[in-house]
Amino acid sequence: MIDTGIDTDFWKGRSVFLTGHTGFKGAWLSLWLSKMGAVVTGYALSPPTVPSLYELCRVDELIASIIADVRDLSSLKAAMIKAQPEVVIHMAAQPMVRDSYRMPVETYAVNVMGTVHLLETVRHCGSVRAVVNVTTDKCYENREWVWGYRENEAMGGYDPYASSKACSELITAAYRRSFFTLSPPHSLTPPPAVATARAGNVIGGGDWGKDRLVPDCIRAFLKGEPVHLRNPHAIRPWQHVLEPLSGYLLLARRLVQDGVRFADAWNFGPEDQDARDVGWVVSKLCEKWGNSAKYTIDNGDHPHEAAYLKLDCSKARAYLNWRSRWNLDTAIDAIVWWTKAYQDGMDLRQVCLDQIDQYTN
Ligand SMILES: NC(=O)c1ccc[n+]([C@@H]2O[C@H](COP(=O)([O-])OP(=O)(O)OC[C@H]3O[C@@H](n4cnc5c(N)ncnc54)[C@H](O)[C@@H]3O)[C@@H](O)[C@H]2O)c1
Repeated sequence: MIDTGIDTDFWKGRSVFLTGHTGFKGAWLSLWLSKMGAVVTGYALSPPTVPSLYELCRVDELIASIIADVRDLSSLKAAMIKAQPEVVIHMAAQPMVRDSYRMPVETYAVNVMGTVHLLETVRHCGSVRAVVNVTTDKCYENREWVWGYRENEAMGGYDPYASSKACSELITAAYRRSFFTLSPPHSLTPPPAVATARAGNVIGGGDWGKDRLVPDCIRAFLKGEPVHLRNPHAIRPWQHVLEPLSGYLLLARRLVQDGVRFADAWNFGPEDQDARDVGWVVSKLCEKWGNSAKYTIDNGDHPHEAAYLKLDCSKARAYLNWRSRWNLDTAIDAIVWWTKAYQDGMDLRQVCLDQIDQYTN
């Protein structure tokens, strides 16, 4: 029996503090959590794109939304202390590799000090029992080899984004060792169980991020133009957005229920056969979109990107009983379904909820 972590009873009425709720993954997770009856407080800057899944799905009607900066420690503290969450999921970040070349200082400020501020806030908020810090598969020292990275391998990161997320991992491990192993003085409750989650390249309906493969394709399809591919041979672990989100939900639940046993790093990636090259993904998308969608190769100068990146998810399979449910083909079908609904002016909140239903059933 596959455990997707979807335990509605567990989430019903549970207080969750989610940073980055206005982003692509954050909006999907807000919809999923509120569907299960969780009481969600979101903390993030305004949606990073126009259009955005957050606005298209009217997420602000479903959760308490605070528009503020993770670099502002006192604002973050005030928001979390007011919300009194049991579960904290940290997704707010500057998540773009190319932007990190353009804005390294801001990338480190948000991704590194944002993590410090989050964990510092957790220290001072007695209600928290579980923290999931969302980093990335790019946090590993990339050896350009064909094997998947395991959680016990070295942190690294070639570009500022990847290295800032590796720093976020190291900070989380240091906070866990220094502050979250013993109960606070005079407290009978255990310390919060703090974990990190490393997922692969996430795809799904409603991502409008710039310089991302699938959003670039969708924008081109909607305009009836060809897609320009930068690195057609780069291999990535592609997965539908609901895959890592199910991992974060499962991990958070186990952290609350079993505490420090799960307070560690976890990979949530696709099955091996879904680590495909960019060219394969785009030709599949073109084929499923129809309307003579096509792509060209852009041979211009591009910043460094790794050629190989795979995750070994044996640990999540063995100890969390997590595994991916939708293969890449199904994920691409779901993107085409979502985007055609967008094109037809349908209620996109309902489309997302239907996709969540289909994923969980
Ligand atoms: N999308 C992917 O393929 C992918 C893969 C691996 C990891 N991740 C990680 O998942 C998380 C979410 O990614 P996403 O794809 O949803 O990105 P996104 O750009 O869609 O969303 C980023 C979110 O962070 C918020 N944010 C940015 N700077 C902030 C600041 N200074 N203060 C407060 N909020 C701020 C934005 O407002 C937004 O809500 C990130 O941590 C990212 O690194 C994403």
